[in-house]
Amino acid sequence: MVFKLSVGLLALATAVSAANFKRVACPDGVHTATNAACCVFFELADTLQSQNFDSECSEDAHEALRLTFHDAIGFSQSGGPSQGTGADGSIMLFEDTELMDPANNGVDDAINNLKPLLQTFNVSAGDLIQFAGAVAVSNCPGAPRLQFMAGRPNATVPAALGLVPKPEDPVDMIFSRMADAGFTPTDLVNLLVSHTVARSDTLIDNRQAVPFDSTPFTFDTQFFLETLLKGNESLPAAAGEADAQVPNALAAQGEMRLQSDFAIAHDSQTACAWQAMVNDQQLIMTSFQQAMAKLAVTGHDVSTLIDCSEAVPEPQPAVGKPATFPAGTSASDLDLTCASAFPSLSADAGPPTTIPECIDGDTNINDCPS
Ligand code: HEM
Repeated sequence: MVFKLSVGLLALATAVSAANFKRVACPDGVHTATNAACCVFFELADTLQSQNFDSECSEDAHEALRLTFHDAIGFSQSGGPSQGTGADGSIMLFEDTELMDPANNGVDDAINNLKPLLQTFNVSAGDLIQFAGAVAVSNCPGAPRLQFMAGRPNATVPAALGLVPKPEDPVDMIFSRMADAGFTPTDLVNLLVSHTVARSDTLIDNRQAVPFDSTPFTFDTQFFLETLLKGNESLPAAAGEADAQVPNALAAQGEMRLQSDFAIAHDSQTACAWQAMVNDQQLIMTSFQQAMAKLAVTGHDVSTLIDCSEAVPEPQPAVGKPATFPAGTSASDLDLTCASAFPSLSADAGPPTTIPECIDGDTNINDCPS
């Protein structure tokens, strides 16, 4: 017994010392890393947290997360490398070209915030974008710790215009675009966990920071529940309207909902995956972690990259509040297309919230006088 214990302890001690032996001291004198190539990312994380995100799930953090997608999705299996090479920094290196795509409206903020860091840190644009997204997410309570692989070469060509899905695209077109980049409809649902910390600055005239759910600063499942409520479907835009592509999703409390999120929440291919997320914090965390690990290396051979996930900060813990129906709503307001059992949830206290209307009774708030 004593012998077995000693052998066990010796094995453990050997393993620990082997792990320590492999670590390298970083030039900053503070950190050690499994690979010298990771050292720069510890310093970059500190700078991002202090100068860009204030260690919060802030607007700049949301925008950095969105940028990871808009860079990576510039990839087409059918079109080949001339159409873009995925998570390669092209949206930053060729911003004059890629920002001509209306689907990229609003990502200039994140580019402007992050691009100066290329002058002070010896990292590629693709690495900067994916690492900043991972650091950003860590500030949102309840988020998983994302993987970060380092070593993406800089893009040599811009991504073709039209590769980023738009909210007004038919859902089958969105699925087929995602498939062309290597993602299944379920992968897309898993990636859309990101919209739990999302607000729009561009889609509704004269309004900024319109949230997609009632808790845009916490990484929770409210987004999946609230997209399933009746009475706030995205309304069709009037023909010929200048902003006809705007998803006129309206929800209580001044929220909005993307037409694409509504369609994906209700499509037969994705409705059950969507519904399963409601009130399952662990599921949104693991699904998002896995999907982001795939997104972040789009277009790359992972065996050429170095795992520097250790430089991603430990995320903020979840708030731990179960999903709740917004005040005035209940299970009878659900509009479900998946037959699976729905979790039993309580409702927030307080007066019912209503869909805002213009004085002329028009529920399209894009038409309301500002
Ligand atoms: C079908 C796919 C998607 C569509 C159509 C879509 C569309 C949009 C739109 C229109 C906005 C509002 C932008 C604005 O007006 O400021 C937005 C925001 C956002 N999106 Fe997506 N998105 C998709 C997938 C994703 C994915 C895969 C991610 C991340 C992995 C992501 C992350 C975000 C984030 C974090 C925001 C909030 C940005 C902020 O608050 O400033 N989206 N998305």
